[in-house]
Amino acid sequence: MFEASALTGSKAEQYAQLLEQARALMHGERDRVANAANLSALVYHALPDLNWVGFYFFDGRELVVGPFQGRPACVRIALGRGVCGTAAQTGRIQRVDDVDAFPGHIPCDSASRSELVVPLFLGGELVGVFDLDSPRPARFDEEDERGLAAVAEAFLASLEPSA
Ligand code: SME
Repeated sequence: MFEASALTGSKAEQYAQLLEQARALMHGERDRVANAANLSALVYHALPDLNWVGFYFFDGRELVVGPFQGRPACVRIALGRGVCGTAAQTGRIQRVDDVDAFPGHIPCDSASRSELVVPLFLGGELVGVFDLDSPRPARFDEEDERGLAAVAEAFLASLEPSA
């Protein structure tokens, strides 16, 4: 049985440990829902100051909420709408220090103050987004962005037939 141990050391070291734990958790498993569910739980409990961690998946038309940890969230988000829809449409990571200043931000949990959304593409096709919310303004810096993009990359790799 997988056991997550507390992250230690510098932030870079902690993200290296988180990535290792994420890979171990998904090892040998290709099911998208299973890996997204476990990854959400892993990250939610491993990192401080988060109130929502989870996935939205693209159903061919819009984003639909997938496995997550946190309060119940909006179910469907159109491409181009909010932070998630912007990440999905542009293919660019959205790191938002102040969600109230982001045009069109969709408030799901009123506690959220900052947000990081990593778009997920596999072979050029939109899979969805990996979304993290924090009750702390400017919770995510460049190092968080890199670390969490690597975790999202590991999720995408887990979906590949060779994984
Ligand atoms: N705030 C997001 C919506 C999703 S929730 O944060 C879980 C957005 O603006 O896209």
